Amino acid sequence: MFSGFSLFPEQASTMAGRVDALYFFLVGLSGFFSILIAGLIVYFAVKFRRRSPQAVGAEIHGGMMLEITWTVLPLFIVLGIFVWGASVFFAMSRPPDETINIYVVGKQWMWKFQHLDGQREINELHVPVGRAVKMIMTSEDVIHDFFVPAFRTKADVIPGRYTSVWFQPTKPGRYHLFCAEYCGTRHSGMIGQVVVMDPSEYQTWLSGGTPEGSLASAGAKLFADLACNTCHRPDAQGRGPVLEGLFGNTVTLQSGETVTVDEAYIRESILTPSAKIAAGFQPIMPTFQGLVTEEQLLELIEYVKSLKALPQVQTR
Ligand code: CUA
Repeated sequence: MFSGFSLFPEQASTMAGRVDALYFFLVGLSGFFSILIAGLIVYFAVKFRRRSPQAVGAEIHGGMMLEITWTVLPLFIVLGIFVWGASVFFAMSRPPDETINIYVVGKQWMWKFQHLDGQREINELHVPVGRAVKMIMTSEDVIHDFFVPAFRTKADVIPGRYTSVWFQPTKPGRYHLFCAEYCGTRHSGMIGQVVVMDPSEYQTWLSGGTPEGSLASAGAKLFADLACNTCHRPDAQGRGPVLEGLFGNTVTLQSGETVTVDEAYIRESILTPSAKIAAGFQPIMPTFQGLVTEEQLLELIEYVKSLKALPQVQTR
């Protein structure tokens, strides 16, 4: 009778059980205290009701033990909830070292996914079962929110910024993907599916035609088309910093501050080059704001990430 009607989403990721355990504990705890308090109100109302019009209540001057009990006990309960909630939160916000990275661009009103090997998808995302998947997300226009109930995964997708979220699917299947932030007229239509596949099926799917090549190779072409390579040369003779081996390193800025080279730093350096000038260089790079799309930015970032440090040439 209720087939197709589920009160609760399926558990299809490693985090789902942990999130649900905390959720049901909170519901149970709230239910327990609600019933306890409501029950006591009714019980005391009956037990201590006024039995004659002349009745006067006995004077009570408080009970220290009672006060201490109902202060200390809840303190430990809420601290327990905090520690439990924080541990789930940290587990959700720290991806494992080995992840499959997928770029996500939200726009009114669709989800665009880019795999590192070059596959692009719209409103459908293919991932293998049992592997940790990290989504690196941004928006072309307004704030969206990536939400897959079966994975208990939900994170805002914000223009001008990269947010990331990870999940590890535990069963093959198709799972609903929603936008969970009102983003305009067709917000309710900004939906899709995450297709979780067996590793072998996933390999087949991955190899099924990649006409455009990998993200990094598209970035390499763009890098040349935009003439970035005239200043950023691998031989340190260019007017801009060498990009080989740069990703993940720490860079000293003119101000003396240091920054770690991550996706956000590269993005900013392309769109607002003057924001953080590396020490020893002139602020001569033009902005590429409006010249590259969010997707092209991702290609350029992947290209920079793919540039491994050149072997040091021995000179003497
Ligand atoms: Cu995008 Cu709501």
